[in-house]
Formats: sequence, C-alpha cells, structure tokens
Amino acid sequence: MPVDAPTAGFPTHRPRRLRTTAAMRELVAETRLGTSDLIAPLFVREGIDTPVEIGSLPGVYQDTVDSIRRGVGELAELGVRAVMLFGVPATKDAVGSGAFDPDGIVQVALRHLRADLGDDVVLMADLCVDEYTDHGHCGIVRDDGVVDNDATIEIYAKAAVAQADAGAHVVAPSGMMDGQVGAIRAALDEHGHDDVAILAYSAKYASALYGPFRDAVDVTIAGGGDRKGYQQDPRNARESLVEVFADLEQGADMVMVKPALAYLDVIHEVRRHVDVPLAAYHVSGEYSMIKAAAANGWIDHDAVALEHLTSIRRAGADLILTYLTRWFAEFTAGKATS
Ligand code: PBG
Repeated sequence: MPVDAPTAGFPTHRPRRLRTTAAMRELVAETRLGTSDLIAPLFVREGIDTPVEIGSLPGVYQDTVDSIRRGVGELAELGVRAVMLFGVPATKDAVGSGAFDPDGIVQVALRHLRADLGDDVVLMADLCVDEYTDHGHCGIVRDDGVVDNDATIEIYAKAAVAQADAGAHVVAPSGMMDGQVGAIRAALDEHGHDDVAILAYSAKYASALYGPFRDAVDVTIAGGGDRKGYQQDPRNARESLVEVFADLEQGADMVMVKPALAYLDVIHEVRRHVDVPLAAYHVSGEYSMIKAAAANGWIDHDAVALEHLTSIRRAGADLILTYLTRWFAEFTAGKATS
C-alpha cells in the first residue's frame, strides 16, 4: 500500500483524519462484533430447585431445567443464536455415565430446549466426561493413571449419539483425545444424525484459566492431577495446526482455539490456514479477571469486556464462546447492568 512521503511540516498521510468523529470511526472500523457472533456457555445442574450462582463466575448460574429453558428463551429474544450446554450431574462414576445416559441432565435439557425453540437457536452440547467422572478426568483412567485414548473415544461416540438423539444441532468434543472427531462423526452418521455438526475444540491448551469453570461443574481432578497428558502445552503454537488439520480431516465442521486472549497468536495462525468457521473460547478465568478487577474499581468493566471480545474477533475468530454473551446482548440493546 503506497503511503505518501511526508513533506516538511505537511504530512499528506494523516491517519488521524479518520479518527475525528465517532461516526467516522464507526465507518472505518475493520472489526465488527455483534450478538450473533457470540455463543453462551450455560450450566444445567441435576437435582436443584433454584438456580445457584457460581461464586467465582459472578452473574453465571448453575441452572435448573426450568431456569435454563427460561434463560435460553430470553437469550433468543435478545438475538443470541447459539448456546453451549454443560451438565452437572447429581452423581458421578468412573466412566461418566451421565454423559451418555439418555436421561442424563444435558440430554433432558436438550429435549426441552429443542421442543421449546425448535431450530431458532443453535443448540450445542459440550462433549466430554470430566463433569461426569468421579476422578474428574476427561476420559477412562487406566490402572497406571493414564487416560486411555481409545476406550475414551468409544464413550464420546455414545455421548454424541445421546446428545444428537436429544436434539443437539452441534456436538463439541472438548476432551482432546486423538481420533475423537472421526469416531464421533462415524457414530453420528451410523445413527442417522448426518446433519448434526461437529465443533471441535481442536487447539485446547492445558490452561490455568479454567479454574472458575471447575467450580461451575464441581470438578476436582483426583490426586491433584492435571490435564497435561491430553491438552496442549502452552509453549506450543505450531502444534495447534497439527491438531486443527487432524480434526478437519476427521470431519470437523468448525474448529476452536481455547483459551482466547493468551492465545491470540494461535487464533491468528489458524485463521490464516483454514476457511471453516473458527471459534475461540473466552474462558472462565478470562471472564472472572474482568469481573474481579471491575468489582475493585480497578478497570472499567464494559470497556474492558468490549476490548477483549473485539480483540478476539480482530485476531480472526468468527465466533466467541463467552460468559459475557448475555451482558453484550443487553448492552447493545441498551439495557445492560453489568
Ligand atoms: C471440558 C471443558 C473445560 C472447559 C470447557 N470444557 C474444562 C477443562 O478442560 O478442564 C473450560 C471452560 C472455561 O474455563 O470456561 N469439559
């Protein structure tokens, strides 16, 4: 792009001309952010009568089936086009049966939501077992403590079918097992769900920013363990492309990078390489940091929230999973309370 050389005292290229008024700035903005770019992660908990606010995620609740039905109805009215469901079961076991039980809490919620809303809202279901296992790992744990890849993807395939049977439009495998997308695609197709899409959590890092989420789903990893044996090492960026290409080859329809802000370089790089819709997950810790700092009066909640979300779009994400979805939808509709 040729730029006129500044002449003495009279630079002809003056970017500030395009920053003079709010209307001008709006006109030339390179990045747009709208309610329909956002996906609301929601938690539905079995065995409670009233919603429970999550201490480390102010403004986010563990919903009852009734309250999630009301909540998603309200989000739809506000223009939100998609939600991602997470379940908190009343009981957990070694294999995470609640994840594939047709009467598991997410499947129950999905059936209601699909009946209530039909195809007005894209119903996505997080597909993993950590919320459902008593040891808190994302799969079947072998005697030596290692998560068994191939035994786990068999369980994921069953969970995908249960979620699709219950009305999910999209299943979103988040467990980072090798071959999970292919196994899920095959199972869905075999059960007549060839139109159910897969949003793969392709580049998911072993991040400390998931802390508040684990409160939200009552997960503690047994023995002080971690997920470094299956989630990506934060030091690796190129590896994300290996993961993304593997998922696309296996049939992923959309891919995700997670978390978002500490991984904007990864989002940018994946965007350069793929043309499928790219999502980024602004995770629980990213949300909580805004809330906590704003509660202390240290930062301006609304301004920082907008800057975070806009930066994720600028880096190249089409879609953002964020606990700020409802706030953003209300804010843009002119009635946010943060
Ligand atoms: C796994 C899953 C996690 C998140 C989404 N799916 C937790 C993990 O990998 O430990 C984290 C989301 C967040 O922090 O907001 N089912």
